[in-house]
Amino acid sequence: MTTTVLKTDPSHIDEKVILSASAALKAGELVAIPTETVYGLAANALDAHAVEKIFIAKGRPQDNPLIVHIADPAGLSLCAAEVPESALRLAKAFWPGPLTMILKKTERIPGIVSAGLPSVALRMPSHPVAAAVIHAAGLPLAAPSANLSGSPSPTSAAHVFDDLNGRIGLIIDGGDCGVGVESTVVTLCGDTPRVLRPGGITPEQLAAVLGGIEIDPAVTKPLAKGARAASPGMKYRHYAPRTRVVIVHGSLAEFAALLKSRRASGERCAALCFEGEEALVGRPALAYGIAGDAASQARKLFGALRAVDALGAETVYARCPPREGVGLAVYNRLLRAAAFQEIAL
Ligand code: TXA
Ligand code: MG
Repeated sequence: MTTTVLKTDPSHIDEKVILSASAALKAGELVAIPTETVYGLAANALDAHAVEKIFIAKGRPQDNPLIVHIADPAGLSLCAAEVPESALRLAKAFWPGPLTMILKKTERIPGIVSAGLPSVALRMPSHPVAAAVIHAAGLPLAAPSANLSGSPSPTSAAHVFDDLNGRIGLIIDGGDCGVGVESTVVTLCGDTPRVLRPGGITPEQLAAVLGGIEIDPAVTKPLAKGARAASPGMKYRHYAPRTRVVIVHGSLAEFAALLKSRRASGERCAALCFEGEEALVGRPALAYGIAGDAASQARKLFGALRAVDALGAETVYARCPPREGVGLAVYNRLLRAAAFQEIAL
């Protein structure tokens, strides 16, 4: 299959590009689209055959459910069997934006979308191109991140092309994603709202609207053997380069000393550090964002993880992000890339 890339500036949308995307989606084809979080691989959520193509193109396990993207909060009552007051409050506060809510699903959503679960994940993206495509198609769109399963999520059209060239027909290039990590996933199916995946909307922001919230232990801890994942996506090794990644807790000076001693002992190691630290920690080194600025780290993390293998190291030691606010999402993704390997200095 030939993969076409069509470009549009998000602030001056090219209607011809949107029309091509919506025509392909209405015809049951896949289209990669930019969102404010990461690029998504979209299909008509109401067409099980179209949705099946997503799993094939990504090599995604069939038991990992997809997020349904809607153009309007009114889509909530079309896709969810019950819309609790908490969902309306969250939609009012954070939609359009990087928040996904899990609610009881309606019959309208095919079982393949929710991987057989009785719930459905819903999100209304704020990216102008994503919003325009959903509007033009007039359909809810199932869309996981547009990467090959297991590799870092794509934050540019070039990342999508690297993973899916020849596997999908169309990529819409709307530039780099602003948030850089995927949406916050919160389930409203239990007694207390629970964050299953941290993201662009922070637990502090959710708590300010909802009062009590819980954070699923799987956000920062590996699942116990035999335990069932509340969010099936959390159980897979994710975002991982081929190079071994190890997270390092400690000061910049301690980090630099660790790299120095490992290199002296003959280990081929590289550093994943913050901007401006490369000279101090020694090369090869790659920066992901600014120290203490979680939003900039979120924007740069996946691109850096994609570039790690080119450093030719056996191990890459990564500076630990702050774990508050959006930093919790950065830490959660880095933990999975590191298969939970951490060192405290
Ligand atoms: O920002 C995002 O959320 C991006 C953009 C494209 O919107 N999408 C995204 O989708 O990250 P994906 O498929 O890569 O991640 C969806 C996550 C997975 O961990 C999945 O297991 C979980 O949401 N999920 C989806 N439906 C669920 C459900 N019914 N119950 C529990 N978890 C669910
Ligand atoms: Mg994903």
